[in-house]
Amino acid sequence: MSKLLASPARPRPPRVPARWQQEVARVLITEHQIAARIRALSQEIQRDFTGREMMIVSLLNGTVMFLADLIRHISLPLRLDFIGVSSYGTGTTPGELVFTKELRLDVRGRDVLLVDDILDTGRTMSRVLERLRPLGSRRIRICVLLDKPSRRVEQVRADYVGFTIPDEFVVGYGLDFAERYRNLPFVGVLREDIYQRAAVVAAPPGRPPAPAS
Ligand code: IMP
Ligand code: MG
Repeated sequence: MSKLLASPARPRPPRVPARWQQEVARVLITEHQIAARIRALSQEIQRDFTGREMMIVSLLNGTVMFLADLIRHISLPLRLDFIGVSSYGTGTTPGELVFTKELRLDVRGRDVLLVDDILDTGRTMSRVLERLRPLGSRRIRICVLLDKPSRRVEQVRADYVGFTIPDEFVVGYGLDFAERYRNLPFVGVLREDIYQRAAVVAAPPGRPPAPAS
């Protein structure tokens, strides 16, 4: 039988690059899929923000790659600033938020696009919104690369979502586990043994490992 006929009907799942096979169980979203989706997202955003005083507020550090790729496809005049927020900083209990950088630019009268890597429980986004809302912007829209709706605790909805994903811990394309894996060009599911090992080494008894924002 020819190779072609023997191949399954469904496309083969993308291979984890050899360099990452020890740590990444599988590729969830490929580099190519990310690029295509971001082009579509930026077109949508561009359409909605045309004629507005656009200001992008991006959350550090997870948005580095997503933001860079998103804004290069937006050809509108815009301002850009960052808020530093860490949702699982070492030494803090999970869910406790630490602001590591404040906004510098004035958002008054502007249409804000708030960008984050992933909307998980929604705690980060709702705390950031609490800070941003009193500052007098005209409106705030939320854009995230990934959405894990099954984990939501706070009532937060993103206006622009790259991909809706299942409840799995993912890394790459800006997302980290204990500050690693941000440089992967794809989004992958972290191998469980990596978690387990980190839990034994780093976490106090009864606490999950501590990924950083
Ligand atoms: P939330 O406050 O629970 O919505 O979580 C938001 C933050 O938690 C994100 O900005 C990420 O830094 C981090 N986070 C949540 N889920 C993941 C994941 O699967 N991988 C990496 N970081 C995550
Ligand atoms: Mg983050």
